[in-house]
Amino acid sequence: MVIERVPTGISGLDELIEGGFVKNSSILVTGKTGSGKTTFITQFLHAGARVYKDPGILVSTEETSRSIRNHCARYGWNMEELENKGMLKILEVEPFSIDTLVTTIEKEAQLIHAKRIVIDSVSMFEMYIDKQLEMRKILFKTLRRLKDLGTTVVITAEIPEDSQSLSRYGVIEFAADAVVVLQYMSLTKYKRSLMVRKMRDTNHSQDIHPFEMMATGINVLSI
Ligand SMILES: Nc1ncnc2c1ncn2[C@@H]1O[C@H](COP(=O)(O)OP(=O)(O)OP(=O)(O)O)[C@@H](O)[C@H]1O
Ligand SMILES: [Mg+2]
Repeated sequence: MVIERVPTGISGLDELIEGGFVKNSSILVTGKTGSGKTTFITQFLHAGARVYKDPGILVSTEETSRSIRNHCARYGWNMEELENKGMLKILEVEPFSIDTLVTTIEKEAQLIHAKRIVIDSVSMFEMYIDKQLEMRKILFKTLRRLKDLGTTVVITAEIPEDSQSLSRYGVIEFAADAVVVLQYMSLTKYKRSLMVRKMRDTNHSQDIHPFEMMATGINVLSI
């Protein structure tokens, strides 16, 4: 069976993962604060819409749409233009009711025929849902509903500074089909690095790859 791939738009990444994310899968991008998660997902959506003509939805739980537009403008990505063309929708949400949120995303996704959905971040959900089993069940259900729309879903999560796991309570990583870990290392030449921790149906690189934040976004190095 040929597996369809979604090019990530992250320079240097597709080569490490057989050409892109598995179409219609879920990917967790996780890392400590400032590791580059928001840049990663906005680059994925911007390139998705601009280069690959994939309409996308960005669900933001922590930043306002204005702050996201400004963040993107610094890399030369004009998100407003994509929004005006109906290629991108930014939803600012407060994660009180996940069910209502998913219904809203479903409606918006159908309206613009979204192919890419991003939630930045799901860490707030972890704080609202205190039982780990409950969180795991809700995330599985949420990701299934979003994938049922035929989209590729990327979620981000924050790793607390003192934590050795991949998310706050070590639950989110099990719900996703793939996990990409971004790391910040202050003492090394390259400050940031990326590792594909798992990616189902993919013979992915097992190495730690440094990446640079260039004027045009993230550039992953093959060394
Ligand atoms: N235009 C830029 N060029 C290079 N580096 C940048 C640029 N903008 C931000 N950065 C670096 O990227 C970091 C933030 O990246 P980003 O917001 O993608 O990380 P994050 O993991 O989403 O952080 P947060 O914990 O706030 O969610 C900044 O702290 C800064 O070091
Ligand atoms: Mg962020």
